[in-house]
Amino acid sequence: MPLSRCYRVKTYCVTVLLFVLVLVCAPSRAGEWHIEPYLACENCHIQHASEDGQPLPGGPFSTLLLKNTVNELCLSCHDGSDPTAPDVQQPVQMYDATASGESAAGYFGLIGADNIAGHSLGLGSVTPLQVEAEYVELSCASCHAVHGNGNYRNLLYDPRAVGDSAVLAEGSDLFAQFAPDVPPTTAGSIIAYSRDNIGYKQAYSAWCVTCHNQLSANSTASPPAHFNSHPVDVTINEFPLDLHTDPVHWTGGTGEGFADDPSGIERVPFEVPAAVDFLSSRVPAETNRIFCGSCHKAHGGQNEKSLLWSYLEGDLNFIAGCQQCHNK
Ligand code: HEC
Ligand code: HEC
Ligand code: HEC
Ligand code: HEC
Ligand code: HEC
Ligand code: HEC
Repeated sequence: MPLSRCYRVKTYCVTVLLFVLVLVCAPSRAGEWHIEPYLACENCHIQHASEDGQPLPGGPFSTLLLKNTVNELCLSCHDGSDPTAPDVQQPVQMYDATASGESAAGYFGLIGADNIAGHSLGLGSVTPLQVEAEYVELSCASCHAVHGNGNYRNLLYDPRAVGDSAVLAEGSDLFAQFAPDVPPTTAGSIIAYSRDNIGYKQAYSAWCVTCHNQLSANSTASPPAHFNSHPVDVTINEFPLDLHTDPVHWTGGTGEGFADDPSGIERVPFEVPAAVDFLSSRVPAETNRIFCGSCHKAHGGQNEKSLLWSYLEGDLNFIAGCQQCHNK
C-alpha cells in the first residue's frame, strides 16, 4: 500500500491505543504527579506525527514522543527551563534559599557524558556492585515509571525487570511535610522537593539494592564493617558493647562534622525505624539508622561517587559525614 496510507493506518492505531489507555488508567491519588488525574498525555506525546498541524522536525519519534529519547523528553522540563518542574540537571538554583540548598535526589550532568559525581545518563556502563555486572544505559525510565505508579516519586517496583517488587511508599516508608501545589507552582515545588521536606523510615536501601545487589544482605561482610559491603539499615547504637559510633555526638548535632564546624556539613539523612509521620521521622536519636541516602544522593551531586561530602577528594571536609556518627 502507498506509504501515505500505511502511515495513516499506523497513526490511527496509535490514536486508538492512546484512547484505550486513557480509559484503563489507574484511579487518582492525591499528591502525585505524572499519574492520573494529572497525567496530561500532551506533555509528552503528540497525538499525531505533527504539532499544531506542522510536522515535527526529525519526527515522528517512537511511541509518538515529543522528543527523540526519554532523557531528552523528561529534561525538556526538568532541566530548569520549566520553573514549576523540579530541576534535576546541573546547574540547579531553585533550592538555593532552602535550609539544605538542594533537593532530596540531587542532580545529573549532561546526557551521554561520564558523570563521576553520580549516575550517568544515556551512557553505556557496567553496573557497579552488582553480581551480574549488567551493561546498561540509564534513562529516567530506568528508575521512574513514566506513566506513574503507587510508589514515592513513581519509582519503579522492578527497575531491572527481574520480578522484584520494591515498595517505597510515601506515608508509610517515608514522609513529606508539604505536598506540591496543584496545579504546580514554582514556590510549591521548591518546598515540596527540597531535601528538608523528606523524612525517611525504611525500605529505601532495598530499592537501591534491586540494581546494586552485591549490597543486599551485607553478604561479603556482616555489620559492623563499611567497606566490603557498606553496612546499612543498622542503628547508631546497634552494637552497644563494641561501639564504633558516637551516639551522643550524633544526637547533639554540633561540633566535628556538623554545620557549625568549619569543615562540617548539614546532618546527613537517616532513617527513624519507628516513625509514624514527618515530624517523628526527623528526630535525631541513638536509634536512628544509616541507609544508602546517608552517604549518597540518588541522582548525583557535587562530590565523586554521588557522596554527600567530598570523601574521595580529600579536602577540608573529607570525613565530615563520617565524623557525625563516629567522631574519631
Ligand atoms: C511524563 C511523560 C509522559 C506522559 C505525561 C504520558 N506518557 Fe505515554 N509514554 C511516555 C514515555 C517516555 C513512553 C515510552 C516508554 C519507554 O520507551 O520506555 C511512553 C509510552 C506510551 C505508550 C506506548 C506503550 C507503553 O506503555 O510503552 C502509550 C500507548 C502511551 N505512552 C500512552 C499515554 C497516554 C494515553 C497518556 C495520557 C494519559 C500518556 N501516555 C502520558 C511518557 C509519557
Ligand atoms: C511538560 C513538562 C514535564 C515533562 C515533559 C516531564 N515532567 Fe516530570 N514534572 C513536571 C512538573 C511541573 C512536576 C511537578 C509537579 C508537582 O509537583 O505538582 C513534575 C514532577 C515529576 C516527578 C515527581 C512526582 C511525584 O509525584 O513525586 C517525577 C519523578 C518526574 N516529574 C519525572 C519525570 C519523568 C521521568 C519524565 C519523563 C518521562 C518527566 N517527569 C517529564 C513537569 C514535566
Ligand atoms: C536501574 C538500576 C539502578 C538503580 C535502581 C540504582 N543504580 Fe546506582 N548505578 C547504576 C548503574 C548502571 C551505575 C553505573 C553507571 C553510572 O555511574 O551512572 C550506577 C552507579 C552508581 C554509583 C557510582 C556513581 C559514580 O559517580 O561513579 C553510586 C554511588 C550509585 N550507583 C548509588 C545508587 C543508589 C544510592 C541508588 C538508590 C537511590 C542506586 N544507585 C540505584 C544502576 C542503578
Ligand atoms: C538511578 C535511579 C534514578 C534515575 C536514573 C533517575 N532518578 Fe529521579 N529519583 C530517583 C530517586 C531514588 C528519587 C528519590 C530520592 C529521595 O527523595 O531521596 C528521585 C527523585 C526524583 C525527583 C524529585 C525531585 C528531587 O530532586 O528529589 C524528580 C523530579 C526526578 N527524580 C526526576 C528524574 C528525571 C527527570 C530523571 C531523568 C533525567 C531521573 N529522575 C532519573 C532515582 C532515579
Ligand atoms: C557510610 C557511607 C556509605 C553508605 C551507607 C553507603 N555507601 Fe556506597 N559508597 C560509599 C563510599 C565512601 C564509596 C566510594 C568508595 C570507593 O570508591 O572506595 C561508595 C561507593 C559506592 C558505589 C560505587 C562503587 C564503584 O565501584 O564505583 C555504589 C554503586 C554504591 N556505593 C552504592 C551504595 C548503595 C546502593 C548503598 C545502600 C545499600 C550504599 N552505597 C551505602 C559510602 C557509603
Ligand atoms: C549515619 C551514620 C554513619 C555515617 C555517616 C558513617 N557511619 Fe560508619 N558506621 C555507622 C554504624 C551505625 C556502624 C555499625 C555500628 C558499629 O560498628 O558500631 C558503622 C560502622 C563503621 C565501621 C566498622 C567498624 C568496625 O570496626 O567494624 C567503620 C570502619 C566505619 N563505620 C567507618 C565509616 C566511615 C569511614 C564513614 C565515612 C565515609 C562512615 N563510617 C560513615 C554509622 C555511620
